[in-house]
Amino acid sequence: MNNILVTRSSMPSFEEYCDEIKDIWDSHWLTNMGNKHKELQKSLEDYLGISHVALYTNGHLALENAIAALNLPKGGEVITTPFTFASTTHAIVRNGLVPVFCDIKEDDYTIDTQKLEKLITDNTVAIVPVHVYGNMCDVEEINRIAKKYGLKVIYDAAHAFAVKYKGVSSACFGDASMFSFHATKVFNTIEGGCVCFKNDAWVQLLNDMKNFGIHGPESVDFVGGNAKMNEFQAAMGICNLKHLSTEIEKRKKVVERYRSRLEGVEGIKLSAIQENVESNYAYFPVVFDGYKYTRNEVFEKLAEVGIGARKYFYPLTNSFECYRNYPTAGTDKTPVAQHMALRVLTLPLYADLALEDVDRICDVILG
Ligand SMILES: Cc1ncc(COP(=O)(O)O)c(C=O)c1O
Repeated sequence: MNNILVTRSSMPSFEEYCDEIKDIWDSHWLTNMGNKHKELQKSLEDYLGISHVALYTNGHLALENAIAALNLPKGGEVITTPFTFASTTHAIVRNGLVPVFCDIKEDDYTIDTQKLEKLITDNTVAIVPVHVYGNMCDVEEINRIAKKYGLKVIYDAAHAFAVKYKGVSSACFGDASMFSFHATKVFNTIEGGCVCFKNDAWVQLLNDMKNFGIHGPESVDFVGGNAKMNEFQAAMGICNLKHLSTEIEKRKKVVERYRSRLEGVEGIKLSAIQENVESNYAYFPVVFDGYKYTRNEVFEKLAEVGIGARKYFYPLTNSFECYRNYPTAGTDKTPVAQHMALRVLTLPLYADLALEDVDRICDVILG
Protein backbone atom coordinates (compact mmCIF):
# COMPACT_ATOMS: atom_id res chain seq x y z
CA MET A 1 0.00 0.00 0.00
CA ASN A 2 1.33 3.41 -0.93
CA ASN A 3 1.76 6.13 1.67
CA ILE A 4 -0.54 9.11 1.31
CA LEU A 5 0.80 12.55 2.14
CA VAL A 6 -1.46 15.28 3.44
CA THR A 7 -0.68 17.40 0.40
CA ARG A 8 1.23 17.29 -2.88
CA SER A 9 2.34 20.37 -4.79
CA SER A 10 0.76 21.15 -8.15
CA MET A 11 3.38 21.37 -10.89
CA PRO A 12 3.35 21.90 -14.65
CA SER A 13 5.12 19.31 -16.78
CA PHE A 14 8.92 19.50 -16.72
CA GLU A 15 8.93 20.51 -20.39
CA GLU A 16 6.41 23.29 -19.84
CA TYR A 17 8.45 24.82 -17.02
CA CYS A 18 11.71 24.52 -19.00
CA ASP A 19 10.05 26.24 -21.92
CA GLU A 20 8.87 29.06 -19.65
CA ILE A 21 12.28 29.68 -18.07
CA LYS A 22 14.23 29.53 -21.36
CA ASP A 23 14.23 33.27 -21.89
CA ILE A 24 15.61 33.79 -18.37
CA TRP A 25 18.80 32.19 -19.73
CA ASP A 26 18.75 34.55 -22.68
CA SER A 27 18.21 37.66 -20.56
CA HIS A 28 20.31 36.69 -17.49
CA TRP A 29 17.66 38.61 -15.52
CA LEU A 30 16.98 36.48 -12.44
CA THR A 31 15.16 38.80 -10.06
CA ASN A 32 14.33 42.46 -9.29
CA MET A 33 10.96 42.73 -11.04
CA GLY A 34 11.91 41.27 -14.42
CA ASN A 35 9.66 40.28 -17.30
CA LYS A 36 8.28 37.10 -15.65
CA HIS A 37 7.45 39.08 -12.53
CA LYS A 38 5.65 41.72 -14.60
CA GLU A 39 3.80 39.12 -16.64
CA LEU A 40 2.55 37.20 -13.61
CA GLN A 41 1.53 40.39 -11.85
CA LYS A 42 -0.58 41.49 -14.83
CA SER A 43 -2.10 38.01 -15.26
CA LEU A 44 -3.10 37.94 -11.60
CA GLU A 45 -4.61 41.43 -11.71
CA ASP A 46 -6.73 40.29 -14.67
CA TYR A 47 -7.59 36.92 -13.15
CA LEU A 48 -8.57 38.38 -9.79
CA GLY A 49 -10.24 41.52 -11.15
CA ILE A 50 -8.30 43.75 -8.78
CA SER A 51 -6.52 46.97 -9.74
CA HIS A 52 -3.19 46.15 -8.08
CA VAL A 53 -1.17 43.07 -7.16
CA ALA A 54 2.26 43.29 -5.49
CA LEU A 55 4.20 40.04 -5.72
CA TYR A 56 6.30 38.77 -2.84
CA THR A 57 8.84 36.05 -2.15
CA ASN A 58 6.38 34.56 0.35
CA GLY A 59 2.98 35.23 1.81
CA HIS A 60 4.24 36.06 5.28
CA LEU A 61 6.32 39.02 4.16
CA ALA A 62 3.43 40.14 1.96
CA LEU A 63 1.19 40.21 5.05
CA GLU A 64 3.82 41.98 7.14
CA ASN A 65 4.21 44.66 4.44
CA ALA A 66 0.46 45.07 3.96
CA ILE A 67 0.05 45.76 7.67
CA ALA A 68 3.11 48.04 7.69
CA ALA A 69 1.70 50.03 4.77
CA LEU A 70 -1.21 51.09 6.98
CA ASN A 71 1.28 53.02 9.14
CA LEU A 72 -0.61 52.27 12.33
CA PRO A 73 0.47 53.70 15.70
CA LYS A 74 2.84 51.33 17.56
CA GLY A 75 1.12 49.50 20.39
CA GLY A 76 -2.25 49.72 18.64
CA GLU A 77 -4.57 46.75 19.05
CA VAL A 78 -5.39 44.55 16.09
CA ILE A 79 -8.31 42.14 16.31
CA THR A 80 -7.63 38.76 14.76
CA THR A 81 -8.27 35.05 15.38
CA PRO A 82 -5.96 32.46 16.96
CA PHE A 83 -7.29 29.64 14.73
CA THR A 84 -4.69 30.22 12.05
CA PHE A 85 -1.09 29.64 11.07
CA ALA A 86 1.64 31.29 13.18
CA SER A 87 2.22 33.81 10.38
CA THR A 88 -0.97 35.82 10.97
CA THR A 89 -0.26 36.67 14.60
CA HIS A 90 3.49 37.06 14.02
CA ALA A 91 2.88 39.56 11.19
CA ILE A 92 0.85 41.74 13.56
CA VAL A 93 3.37 41.53 16.40
CA ARG A 94 6.41 42.06 14.16
CA ASN A 95 4.78 45.37 13.19
CA GLY A 96 4.83 46.51 16.83
CA LEU A 97 1.09 45.96 17.23
CA VAL A 98 -0.85 44.02 19.88
CA PRO A 99 -2.97 41.04 18.78
CA VAL A 100 -6.39 40.83 20.39
CA PHE A 101 -7.89 37.40 19.84
CA CYS A 102 -11.50 37.07 18.78
CA ASP A 103 -13.30 33.74 18.85
CA ILE A 104 -14.43 31.92 15.70
CA LYS A 105 -17.72 30.57 14.41
CA GLU A 106 -18.48 26.91 14.90
CA ASP A 107 -19.68 26.24 11.37
CA ASP A 108 -16.93 27.73 9.19
CA TYR A 109 -14.14 28.61 11.68
CA THR A 110 -13.91 32.27 10.55
CA ILE A 111 -13.98 35.26 12.91
CA ASP A 112 -17.21 35.56 14.88
CA THR A 113 -18.41 39.06 14.04
CA GLN A 114 -20.91 38.99 16.90
CA LYS A 115 -18.00 38.80 19.34
CA LEU A 116 -15.72 41.10 17.34
CA GLU A 117 -17.48 44.36 18.10
CA LYS A 118 -17.25 43.80 21.88
CA LEU A 119 -13.45 43.63 21.64
CA ILE A 120 -13.11 47.11 20.14
CA THR A 121 -11.51 49.67 22.46
CA ASP A 122 -10.07 53.17 22.02
CA ASN A 123 -6.77 51.49 21.14
CA THR A 124 -8.14 49.30 18.35
CA VAL A 125 -6.62 50.26 15.01
CA ALA A 126 -7.29 47.37 12.64
CA ILE A 127 -8.81 43.95 12.01
CA VAL A 128 -6.90 41.06 10.45
CA PRO A 129 -9.48 38.35 9.74
CA VAL A 130 -8.50 35.02 8.17
CA HIS A 131 -10.37 33.28 5.33
CA VAL A 132 -9.37 30.06 7.01
CA TYR A 133 -9.34 26.87 4.84
CA GLY A 134 -10.59 29.14 2.04
CA ASN A 135 -13.85 29.80 3.92
CA MET A 136 -14.87 33.41 3.43
CA CYS A 137 -15.23 35.62 6.50
CA ASP A 138 -18.41 37.64 6.82
CA VAL A 139 -16.94 40.43 4.68
CA GLU A 140 -20.12 42.53 4.72
CA GLU A 141 -20.39 42.64 8.50
CA ILE A 142 -16.65 43.23 8.90
CA ASN A 143 -16.92 46.12 6.45
CA ARG A 144 -19.82 47.59 8.43
CA ILE A 145 -17.94 47.35 11.73
CA ALA A 146 -14.71 48.74 10.24
CA LYS A 147 -16.57 51.75 8.80
CA LYS A 148 -18.46 52.39 12.04
CA TYR A 149 -15.27 52.50 14.14
CA GLY A 150 -12.82 53.80 11.52
CA LEU A 151 -10.72 50.63 11.49
CA LYS A 152 -8.44 49.29 8.76
CA VAL A 153 -8.93 45.74 7.47
CA ILE A 154 -6.26 43.45 6.03
CA TYR A 155 -7.47 39.97 5.12
CA ASP A 156 -5.19 37.01 5.60
CA ALA A 157 -6.45 35.27 2.48
CA ALA A 158 -3.50 32.84 2.39
CA HIS A 159 -5.93 29.94 1.79
CA ALA A 160 -8.47 31.73 -0.37
CA PHE A 161 -6.89 32.19 -3.80
CA ALA A 162 -9.55 31.74 -6.51
CA VAL A 163 -12.41 31.90 -3.99
CA LYS A 164 -15.29 34.19 -4.88
CA TYR A 165 -18.07 35.71 -2.81
CA LYS A 166 -21.19 36.73 -4.77
CA GLY A 167 -19.07 36.49 -7.89
CA VAL A 168 -16.38 38.85 -6.55
CA SER A 169 -12.84 37.63 -5.92
CA SER A 170 -11.67 37.29 -2.33
CA ALA A 171 -8.89 39.69 -3.39
CA CYS A 172 -11.28 42.62 -3.41
CA PHE A 173 -12.33 43.09 0.23
CA GLY A 174 -10.93 45.31 2.97
CA ASP A 175 -7.96 47.64 2.53
CA ALA A 176 -5.93 44.74 1.19
CA SER A 177 -5.80 40.95 1.01
CA MET A 178 -2.80 38.67 1.14
CA PHE A 179 -2.55 35.37 -0.72
CA SER A 180 0.11 32.75 -0.07
CA PHE A 181 1.57 30.97 -3.08
CA HIS A 182 3.46 28.46 -0.95
CA ALA A 183 4.11 25.03 -2.49
CA THR A 184 1.22 23.54 -0.51
CA LYS A 185 -1.38 26.02 -1.70
CA VAL A 186 -4.01 25.60 -4.43
CA PHE A 187 -1.92 27.92 -6.62
CA ASN A 188 1.82 27.98 -6.00
CA THR A 189 4.94 29.81 -7.13
CA ILE A 190 7.15 27.37 -5.13
CA GLU A 191 7.31 29.92 -2.31
CA GLY A 192 5.52 33.19 -2.89
CA GLY A 193 2.63 35.45 -2.12
CA CYS A 194 1.03 38.75 -2.97
CA VAL A 195 -0.87 41.73 -1.65
CA CYS A 196 -4.01 42.76 -3.54
CA PHE A 197 -5.23 46.32 -3.14
CA LYS A 198 -7.02 49.24 -4.80
CA ASN A 199 -5.12 52.25 -3.41
CA ASP A 200 -2.90 53.61 -6.22
CA ALA A 201 -0.52 55.18 -3.69
CA TRP A 202 0.41 51.71 -2.45
CA VAL A 203 1.93 50.63 -5.78
CA GLN A 204 5.13 52.57 -5.18
CA LEU A 205 4.98 52.13 -1.41
CA LEU A 206 4.88 48.30 -1.49
CA ASN A 207 7.40 48.22 -4.32
CA ASP A 208 9.83 50.21 -2.17
CA MET A 209 9.03 48.27 1.00
CA LYS A 210 9.95 44.94 -0.55
CA ASN A 211 13.10 46.46 -2.05
CA PHE A 212 15.01 47.84 0.97
CA GLY A 213 13.08 51.13 0.98
CA ILE A 214 14.96 52.12 -2.17
CA HIS A 215 12.84 54.72 -3.94
CA GLY A 216 15.20 55.77 -6.72
CA PRO A 217 18.81 55.12 -7.76
CA GLU A 218 20.08 57.55 -5.15
CA SER A 219 17.26 57.77 -2.64
CA VAL A 220 16.42 55.42 0.18
CA ASP A 221 13.35 56.80 1.91
CA PHE A 222 12.78 54.35 4.71
CA VAL A 223 14.07 51.17 6.35
CA GLY A 224 12.73 48.48 4.03
CA GLY A 225 13.42 44.77 3.77
CA ASN A 226 13.93 42.43 0.83
CA ALA A 227 10.88 40.40 -0.20
CA LYS A 228 10.90 40.44 -4.00
CA MET A 229 9.54 37.46 -5.93
CA ASN A 230 12.24 36.14 -8.27
CA GLU A 231 11.88 35.18 -11.93
CA PHE A 232 11.85 31.41 -11.38
CA GLN A 233 9.04 31.72 -8.88
CA ALA A 234 7.09 33.95 -11.28
CA ALA A 235 7.67 31.46 -14.13
CA MET A 236 6.20 28.67 -11.97
CA GLY A 237 3.21 30.90 -11.31
CA ILE A 238 2.71 31.64 -15.02
CA CYS A 239 2.65 27.89 -15.73
CA ASN A 240 0.48 26.91 -12.76
CA LEU A 241 -2.10 29.62 -13.44
CA LYS A 242 -2.84 28.00 -16.80
CA HIS A 243 -3.81 24.74 -15.07
CA LEU A 244 -5.60 26.24 -12.09
CA SER A 245 -9.20 25.64 -13.14
CA THR A 246 -8.46 21.97 -13.93
CA GLU A 247 -6.71 21.57 -10.57
CA ILE A 248 -9.69 23.06 -8.72
CA GLU A 249 -12.11 20.82 -10.64
CA LYS A 250 -10.09 17.77 -9.57
CA ARG A 251 -9.97 18.95 -5.95
CA LYS A 252 -13.72 19.40 -6.05
CA LYS A 253 -14.17 15.74 -6.99
CA VAL A 254 -11.97 14.67 -4.08
CA VAL A 255 -13.96 16.84 -1.66
CA GLU A 256 -17.26 15.52 -2.99
CA ARG A 257 -16.06 11.95 -2.42
CA TYR A 258 -15.02 12.78 1.15
CA ARG A 259 -18.41 14.40 1.78
CA SER A 260 -20.30 11.46 0.34
CA ARG A 261 -18.50 9.14 2.75
CA LEU A 262 -18.36 11.26 5.91
CA GLU A 263 -21.43 13.52 5.81
CA GLY A 264 -24.04 12.64 8.41
CA VAL A 265 -21.83 10.26 10.41
CA GLU A 266 -22.57 10.77 14.09
CA GLY A 267 -19.79 12.64 15.87
CA ILE A 268 -18.18 13.83 12.62
CA LYS A 269 -18.66 17.46 11.65
CA LEU A 270 -17.72 18.85 8.25
CA SER A 271 -17.15 22.49 7.36
CA ALA A 272 -20.37 24.29 6.32
CA ILE A 273 -20.90 24.83 2.61
CA GLN A 274 -21.04 28.61 2.48
CA GLU A 275 -23.82 30.40 0.65
CA ASN A 276 -22.82 32.58 -2.32
CA VAL A 277 -19.24 31.30 -2.16
CA GLU A 278 -17.36 29.68 -5.00
CA SER A 279 -14.87 27.42 -3.23
CA ASN A 280 -11.28 26.57 -4.18
CA TYR A 281 -11.43 23.26 -2.25
CA ALA A 282 -8.18 24.12 -0.50
CA TYR A 283 -8.58 21.98 2.62
CA PHE A 284 -10.84 19.30 4.03
CA PRO A 285 -11.14 19.87 7.78
CA VAL A 286 -13.04 17.29 9.81
CA VAL A 287 -14.07 17.83 13.43
CA PHE A 288 -14.36 14.75 15.64
CA ASP A 289 -16.76 15.73 18.36
CA GLY A 290 -18.35 12.87 20.26
CA TYR A 291 -17.17 10.40 17.61
CA LYS A 292 -16.22 6.84 18.59
CA TYR A 293 -12.57 7.87 18.22
CA THR A 294 -10.98 11.12 19.38
CA ARG A 295 -9.15 13.34 16.90
CA ASN A 296 -5.81 12.09 18.21
CA GLU A 297 -6.90 8.48 17.86
CA VAL A 298 -7.93 9.05 14.24
CA PHE A 299 -4.62 10.80 13.60
CA GLU A 300 -2.75 7.77 15.00
CA LYS A 301 -4.89 5.23 13.12
CA LEU A 302 -4.15 7.02 9.85
CA ALA A 303 -0.44 7.36 10.64
CA GLU A 304 -0.19 3.63 11.38
CA VAL A 305 -1.15 2.84 7.78
CA GLY A 306 1.00 5.54 6.23
CA ILE A 307 -1.66 8.23 5.80
CA GLY A 308 -0.72 11.78 6.73
CA ALA A 309 -3.25 14.17 8.26
CA ARG A 310 -2.65 17.49 10.01
CA LYS A 311 -3.80 18.92 13.31
CA TYR A 312 -4.35 22.19 11.48
CA PHE A 313 -4.80 24.47 13.47
CA TYR A 314 -3.50 23.16 16.74
CA PRO A 315 -2.20 24.67 18.94
CA LEU A 316 -3.95 28.04 18.75
CA THR A 317 -1.61 31.00 18.29
CA ASN A 318 -2.87 32.55 21.54
CA SER A 319 -1.31 29.61 23.39
CA PHE A 320 2.15 29.98 21.82
CA GLU A 321 5.04 30.23 24.26
CA CYS A 322 6.19 33.47 22.61
CA TYR A 323 2.87 35.15 23.53
CA ARG A 324 2.74 33.80 27.07
CA ASN A 325 3.26 37.22 28.62
CA TYR A 326 0.66 39.00 26.50
CA PRO A 327 -2.38 39.91 28.59
CA THR A 328 -4.51 39.30 25.49
CA ALA A 329 -3.27 35.69 25.11
CA GLY A 330 -4.87 32.55 26.56
CA THR A 331 -7.17 29.99 24.97
CA ASP A 332 -9.84 30.59 27.64
CA LYS A 333 -10.72 33.82 25.80
CA THR A 334 -11.56 31.90 22.62
CA PRO A 335 -13.47 28.78 23.77
CA VAL A 336 -14.92 27.84 20.37
CA ALA A 337 -11.51 28.09 18.70
CA GLN A 338 -10.01 25.95 21.47
CA HIS A 339 -12.81 23.39 21.15
CA MET A 340 -12.13 23.10 17.41
CA ALA A 341 -8.34 23.09 17.73
CA LEU A 342 -8.57 20.03 20.00
CA ARG A 343 -10.88 18.16 17.62
CA VAL A 344 -10.00 19.12 14.06
CA LEU A 345 -7.95 17.22 11.52
CA THR A 346 -7.34 18.20 7.91
CA LEU A 347 -7.36 15.16 5.65
CA PRO A 348 -5.13 14.60 2.60
CA LEU A 349 -6.26 16.76 -0.29
CA TYR A 350 -4.61 17.52 -3.62
CA ALA A 351 -5.70 17.50 -7.24
CA ASP A 352 -4.25 14.10 -8.10
CA LEU A 353 -5.42 12.28 -4.98
CA ALA A 354 -7.12 9.13 -6.33
CA LEU A 355 -10.74 8.58 -5.30
CA GLU A 356 -9.76 5.03 -4.27
CA ASP A 357 -7.29 6.60 -1.84
CA VAL A 358 -10.05 8.85 -0.48
CA ASP A 359 -12.09 5.68 0.10
CA ARG A 360 -9.13 4.06 1.83
CA ILE A 361 -8.75 7.09 4.12
CA CYS A 362 -12.48 7.06 4.92
CA ASP A 363 -12.43 3.30 5.57
CA VAL A 364 -9.73 3.82 8.21
CA ILE A 365 -11.65 6.68 9.82
CA LEU A 366 -14.94 4.80 9.82
CA GLY A 367 -13.48 1.39 10.64
C1 LIG B 1 -3.26 31.43 7.30
C2 LIG B 1 -1.87 31.64 6.79
N1 LIG B 1 -1.34 32.88 6.82
C3 LIG B 1 -0.12 33.14 6.35
C4 LIG B 1 0.68 32.14 5.81
C5 LIG B 1 2.06 32.47 5.35
O1 LIG B 1 2.26 32.22 3.99
P1 LIG B 1 3.67 31.75 3.42
O2 LIG B 1 3.92 30.34 3.84
O3 LIG B 1 3.53 31.90 1.94
O4 LIG B 1 4.71 32.69 3.97
C6 LIG B 1 0.19 30.84 5.75
C7 LIG B 1 1.03 29.79 5.18
O5 LIG B 1 0.76 28.66 5.06
C8 LIG B 1 -1.11 30.58 6.26
O6 LIG B 1 -1.62 29.34 6.26
